Amino acid sequence: MNKSATDKLGRPIRDLRISLTDQCNFRCSYCMPKEVFGPGYAFLPQKQLLGNDEVVLLVRAFAKLGIEKVRLTGGEPLLRKDLVQLVHDISDVEGVRDLSLTTNGSLLPRYAKQLEKAGLSRINVSLDSLNKEVFQKMAGGRGDPKSVIAGIDASLEAGLSVKTNMVVRKGVNESEIVPMVSYFRDRRITLRFIEYMDVGNTNQWKLDEVYPAKKILDTISSHYDFEPVDPGYRGEVAARYRYTDIPVEFGLINSITKPFCSDCNRARLSADGKLYTCLFASDGHDLKALVRSQIDEERIVDTISKIWMNRHDRYSEKRASGIQDSNKIEMSYIGG
Ligand code: GTP
Ligand code: 5AD
Ligand code: SF4
Ligand code: SF4
Repeated sequence: MNKSATDKLGRPIRDLRISLTDQCNFRCSYCMPKEVFGPGYAFLPQKQLLGNDEVVLLVRAFAKLGIEKVRLTGGEPLLRKDLVQLVHDISDVEGVRDLSLTTNGSLLPRYAKQLEKAGLSRINVSLDSLNKEVFQKMAGGRGDPKSVIAGIDASLEAGLSVKTNMVVRKGVNESEIVPMVSYFRDRRITLRFIEYMDVGNTNQWKLDEVYPAKKILDTISSHYDFEPVDPGYRGEVAARYRYTDIPVEFGLINSITKPFCSDCNRARLSADGKLYTCLFASDGHDLKALVRSQIDEERIVDTISKIWMNRHDRYSEKRASGIQDSNKIEMSYIGG
């Protein structure tokens, strides 16, 4: 690392989340409702997507500013044909010490081994229910829990470390909290509950559909004893807990009831090469244009640094005090 950048609220740049495609084979109601993302929806044209070399060039530039963690997301990143090669190339970038993937898991049986060999460290798999009917209610009628579990199994067999993410939407899948807790406890896999968030404009989010973290903790505590665990590092997204009888953790991602903007060190790159400084942003900064204009890497590093130093985003905290922006980017476009 030869430079560093700290934003207007004193937050360093540390994590880079890269969306590799805005497409997905599922249609989760809270992310890509099928009424909106149906036939005819205008996904990004192929030529607007960053190519592997362009992604790697940008990762190198971010690494020079102190990025250590890189997470590949989507849409569904496993839909990207050249993903294994990209993982290989990013894992070679100096400074990147943690390379991970967030996926719906359905294609992992085909790719887990190759990804591990290419240098991927770990995977977060989204799974909202073990019950097929409830699963399909959440995933827009697509996929099934068995194929996601097969993806988790394949990843563990390949030697990858795995966590599971469950979005809880009140009135749809809270009945699955206890079955999911029992299943993943038994399997010694960390399960994280995510409060349903008002990302984008298409999911018609309403506060009364949020199942608050406090209620999740109450539900778990009526079955198991647990204790809080200190964060692994400053700015960790999930609040962590450990069961007292076995060495297994679970987590809560409480963006609605307990926002965590004050330590947010995450930069986000969209599949078409725009830099966003918040998950709830409306506008991005076009890095693809810079990369394609062939300017030297140092100027790209300087540009990113200036953008970060001007950053003052704290959307979730502002939401908590009643201020809400409209016209936000979609989760499927920017990644989780
Ligand atoms: P780990 O490094 O394994 O802890 O991963 P992570 O929790 O950072 O990543 P993951 O992709 O699994 O994200 C889990 C959930 O946290 C997703 O629903 C994200 O949208 C949410 N999340 C991650 N970063 C942020 C953030 O900066 N703000 C908000 N509001 N939510 C976030
Ligand atoms: N609220 C909360 N989590 C969401 N995700 C996608 N959309 C939303 C939303 N509106 C989750 C996915 C995945 C992660 C990347 O983001 O389920 O686990
Ligand atoms: Fe696809 Fe993940 Fe969005 Fe569901 S949450 S539609 S699996 S990108
Ligand atoms: Fe970071 Fe924006 Fe999420 Fe706050 S709302 S934690 S600033 S991405």
